[in-house]
Amino acid sequence: MKVLICGADGQLGRCLLQHYPSHWQVTATNRAVLDITDPYRVKALIEKTHPHFIINAAAYTAVDLAEDDPEHAKAVNTDGVKNLAIAAKNCGAGILHISTDYVFDGDSSSPYTEDTPANPLNIYGKTKLDGELALSEILPDSLIIRTSWLFSEYGNNFMKTMLALSGKNTPLKIVSDQYGCPTYAGDLATAIIYLLENHVKPGLYHYCGNTPVSWYQFAEFIFEQSYKAGLLHLPQTLQAITRHEFGRPAKRPARSVLSNKKLADMMHIPDWHNAVIKVIHQLKSERQE
Ligand SMILES: NC(=O)c1ccc[n+]([C@@H]2O[C@H](COP(=O)([O-])OP(=O)(O)OC[C@H]3O[C@@H](n4cnc5c(N)ncnc54)[C@H](OP(=O)(O)O)[C@@H]3O)[C@@H](O)[C@H]2O)c1
Repeated sequence: MKVLICGADGQLGRCLLQHYPSHWQVTATNRAVLDITDPYRVKALIEKTHPHFIINAAAYTAVDLAEDDPEHAKAVNTDGVKNLAIAAKNCGAGILHISTDYVFDGDSSSPYTEDTPANPLNIYGKTKLDGELALSEILPDSLIIRTSWLFSEYGNNFMKTMLALSGKNTPLKIVSDQYGCPTYAGDLATAIIYLLENHVKPGLYHYCGNTPVSWYQFAEFIFEQSYKAGLLHLPQTLQAITRHEFGRPAKRPARSVLSNKKLADMMHIPDWHNAVIKVIHQLKSERQE
C-alpha cells in the first residue's frame, strides 16, 4: 500500500515512521517538503506519488499562539485539510485525518462520544473542527480520529515540558481543574496502522488513553516515575492551581474526556501509565548515550 504521511516531523508523524509495516511504501513529508497550505504543491505531490492513503498528522498545534494568529491556524488546520481532500478526491486516494478533544467545550460530566455535538472554546479547536467538516464534505469516506493530550519521546509535549522545568527548589504550579485522557503517540500510531490494515469503516472515531486525569495528576505520575527510574535525582514538589490562576490566552475545556468505546470494541487500547514509564526509560537511555 502506498501511503503519504504529512507532518512526518511531528510527534505522531515520527511515531508513524517508527511503526509502519514493511509492506507499506511510505512517502514522508514535513513542512519543508510539503506545506499543506499550498494547494498547488499538494496537488502536484499527490499526483506524482499517487498514494492509496494519506495520513494527515500535520497541524498548527500551538493552542495559545492561535488566539493571536487565527489566520495561520485556519490556513493549516482548515484550509490545509481542504487542499489535501480536494487533491485526494481527484486522485482516488483515501484520507485518515487527526483531530482533537478541543472541539468540545468540556462542560459535560460524562465522556464525549462521536455523536456529541462539538462546541470549541478556542481558535485551535474551531479551526480543527472546521477541518473535520471540510474533509467530511469533500471526501465523506474519510477516517477522522480525534485524540487528546498526546505525549511521546519526540517533539514538544506536556511530559517533556514537565521534565524540562524540574529541578527547581520552588514547587511547580500545575493546573488541577482541567481533565482529559493522556494518549501515547506511539499507541495512536499503532492504532492508525491497525485501522488502515483492517479497512475499518470510514467515519469519526475517538482514540485516547484509558483513565482520565487532571494535568496535576498527570504531572504527579510523571515526576514520581521519573524519580523512581533515576531520570530525576530529586523528587519534584507541585502546587495545584486553577486554570484561571494559570491565565493562559486560550480558554481550555474543563473536562474534554473522550469516550473511546467505539474503537475499544474493535481493538485493545493500552493504558497510558505504562507508556509514560516506557518514555521515561527511553529518555534516560538517550541521556546516557
Ligand atoms: N499534541 C497534542 O496534545 C494533541 C492533542 C489532541 C490532538 N492533537 C492532534 O494530533 C495531531 C498530531 O499532533 P502532534 O502532537 O504530533 O503535533 P506536532 O508535534 O505539533 O506536529 C505537527 C507537525 O505539523 C507540521 N506542520 C505545521 N504546519 C504545517 C504545514 N503548513 N504543512 C505541513 N506540515 C505542517 C509541524 O511542522 P513545524 O514544526 O515545522 O511547524 C509539525 O511537524 C494533530 O492533528 C493535532 O491537532 C494533538
